[in-house]
Amino acid sequence: MNFKLITGFLLIGILGSIGRTNGVALMTRIQMAKTSLEEYLEQCWNDFVDLMDNGIPGLNIPTFDPWFSNDSFPFRMQDSDIVLRADVNATNVTSLGFSSVEIPAVYDNGNGHFNISLTLSDLKINGLYSVVGSHHYFYPIVGNGPFDMMMMDVYSSGTATLMYNGTVYSLTKLELTPLLYGSATAEFFSLSISGTDSTSATYTQIVNLMTELLWFQVEEELRLQLSVSITEYLNNQLLDFKPSSSSVPLQKQKS
Ligand SMILES: *[C@@H]1O[C@H](CO)[C@@H](O)[C@H](O)[C@H]1NC(C)=O
Ligand SMILES: *[C@@H]1O[C@H](CO)[C@@H](O)[C@H](O)[C@H]1NC(C)=O
Ligand SMILES: *[C@@H]1O[C@H](CO)[C@@H](O)[C@H](O)[C@H]1NC(C)=O
Ligand SMILES: *[C@@H]1O[C@H](CO)[C@@H](O)[C@H](O)[C@H]1NC(C)=O
Ligand SMILES: *[C@@H]1O[C@H](CO)[C@@H](O)[C@H](O)[C@H]1NC(C)=O
Repeated sequence: MNFKLITGFLLIGILGSIGRTNGVALMTRIQMAKTSLEEYLEQCWNDFVDLMDNGIPGLNIPTFDPWFSNDSFPFRMQDSDIVLRADVNATNVTSLGFSSVEIPAVYDNGNGHFNISLTLSDLKINGLYSVVGSHHYFYPIVGNGPFDMMMMDVYSSGTATLMYNGTVYSLTKLELTPLLYGSATAEFFSLSISGTDSTSATYTQIVNLMTELLWFQVEEELRLQLSVSITEYLNNQLLDFKPSSSSVPLQKQKS
């Protein structure tokens, strides 16, 4: 199968805010540290991306490139247009390419609100699948074997709240929005859809729906793990961030 590579990016954002109960002195210190805090977080975010292919066992951060899921992903496909009803199950799901993130960036939106962004052109997902069902009432759909999917122009952003306890900064848990994709190509090997051939509109419709629904299952697990791990990593790095050192801007790492 020919995968069309499209350049694009994946954005992940963190948005933070400072609790109002901490007083004026705190706000002054944070404003002083604002710029360097943004740069520090951006540096950390770049470092996290660099660490994706090894993970960080000490912080319980798994390998994200490749990323492997032990779980199975069962779901039902339904479509009234072609009277589709099929049960799909995917296992041994692996994603490849997460560390090829472009432009991991952090934006300070003011008042301690940070938006951390990154872009990714394509993400390869593969694994094993099985499907049993029918379309147009009686045409069987049967498949069992490996699958390959390529998600292109994947995007997400999230929010977190910056806090300061007088000694260290920390972020509340990053909540990433669902990782949406711009386009996708997919191949499900040994897929048999009776009454169609692989060039028909019905075949394409079923494969596209299967790709979309499977991605929604997989991205949720990937996203939740990523949200926890990024938060864990940034908070660990923030333990070393001192406002007093903030007058020395950190070197921004590009790409
Ligand atoms: C996957 O499951 C196996 C067996 O249950 C276990 O040994 C392994 O540690 C798990 N891997 C991950 C990444 O959770
Ligand atoms: C999906 O596959 C896994 C692994 O074979 C199996 O344990 C699980 O029961 C299946 N789920 C469904 C709903 O068929
Ligand atoms: C799928 O994963 C299981 C355990 O995670 C492993 O035992 C099995 O060999 C894998 N199957 C394939 C075809 O890779
Ligand atoms: C983060 O910034 C990006 C790019 O400016 C924007 O599209 C996204 O909505 C922002 N996310 C949040 C949570 O503010
Ligand atoms: C702030 O948090 C750090 C890390 O959790 C902790 O070591 C420190 O004691 C806390 N300081 C205060 C004043 O609560």
